[in-house]
Amino acid sequence: MIVLGIETSCDETSVAILSDGKILSNVVSSQIDIHKKFGGVVPEIAARHHLSNLPIVFKKAIDMANISLDQIDLISVTYGPGLIGALLVGISFAKGLSLRLGKPLIGVNHIVGHVFANYITYPHLKPPYIVLMVSGGHTEILLVKEDDKIEVLGKTVDDAAGEAFDKVARILGLGYPGGPEIDKLSKNGDENKFNFPRPMLDSKNYNFSFSGLKTAVLYTVQKFDNDNVPKEDIAASFQKAVVDILLKKTFKAAKNSNVNTIVLAGGVAANSYLRKKAQELSEKQNIKVLIPPLEFCTDNAAMIAMAGYKLYKKGISSDLTLEAVPNLKI
Ligand code: KG4
Ligand code: ZN
Repeated sequence: MIVLGIETSCDETSVAILSDGKILSNVVSSQIDIHKKFGGVVPEIAARHHLSNLPIVFKKAIDMANISLDQIDLISVTYGPGLIGALLVGISFAKGLSLRLGKPLIGVNHIVGHVFANYITYPHLKPPYIVLMVSGGHTEILLVKEDDKIEVLGKTVDDAAGEAFDKVARILGLGYPGGPEIDKLSKNGDENKFNFPRPMLDSKNYNFSFSGLKTAVLYTVQKFDNDNVPKEDIAASFQKAVVDILLKKTFKAAKNSNVNTIVLAGGVAANSYLRKKAQELSEKQNIKVLIPPLEFCTDNAAMIAMAGYKLYKKGISSDLTLEAVPNLKI
């Protein structure tokens, strides 16, 4: 079965083609350089660039996969959450294609896409498993009971983890997106130099809060003269605080749910310190941890095609009334 995936929810225009769950092509065109000068994604600009990029990315994905259009069996597209204008570009394109080819359409939740990215690398992964879903807009602990039965065990009550990385990077005068910058800088820093707060670490639920941590970083930076801010140590100590909180709650959720597998998902799962600490805890606590390769952590259409493929096989599909849902929940 050949599935075409389309992802345009934020600042990556991506089209992928999967054959029976295996990647034939996965083309990602990032707008990061365009949005960088604004310090974040500008929704209107993102939508316009999707509009001009999508046909080019689509053509490239078809050529790389070396298939003809009539070989496509299913069109899978992100319908939320995300930026309304950006989502509409992908959805309209997907609908047009579905109509033209007479092939079925399925709308995929972007968050579910991030989770299913793991099936690309780990085809033998089977529910139940726990997911630490950490991106620019989302921070959630999920329990995947079945591919189409996902329960939210906990989530952030304020900032998402990626958002905290991006905001702290801005406080430190680093570029956008902030996560990779902090990751890089931290390698030369002392992670134990500053003991930043770990909000809600011992709360009875699986919820997170990162806005107080971000404020604590701001107050620490303000104690130094502009030229003497120990950026590396602050970045490393902040990163350690975030990772401590994320992993403590995730491993607790796995234990309490009697689940022996944890998977990481979303852009922040690209963080090298998070990946290292998750592996260490995995060995210590004898819980399997699966981490997708970097290219499947950040936004891509292969994960959307994979989710569409799996869910369509469960009998789920959409029709031409599919609409963008910017605040779509699991
Ligand atoms: O999943 P994603 O590509 O887009 C969303 O759906 O949000 O995630 C983007 C987020 C950004 O906040 C970015 O700073 C963060 O993931 N990120 C990282 C790293 N790479 C990307 N955060 C920490 N460390 C990284 N290496
Ligand atoms: Zn994402």
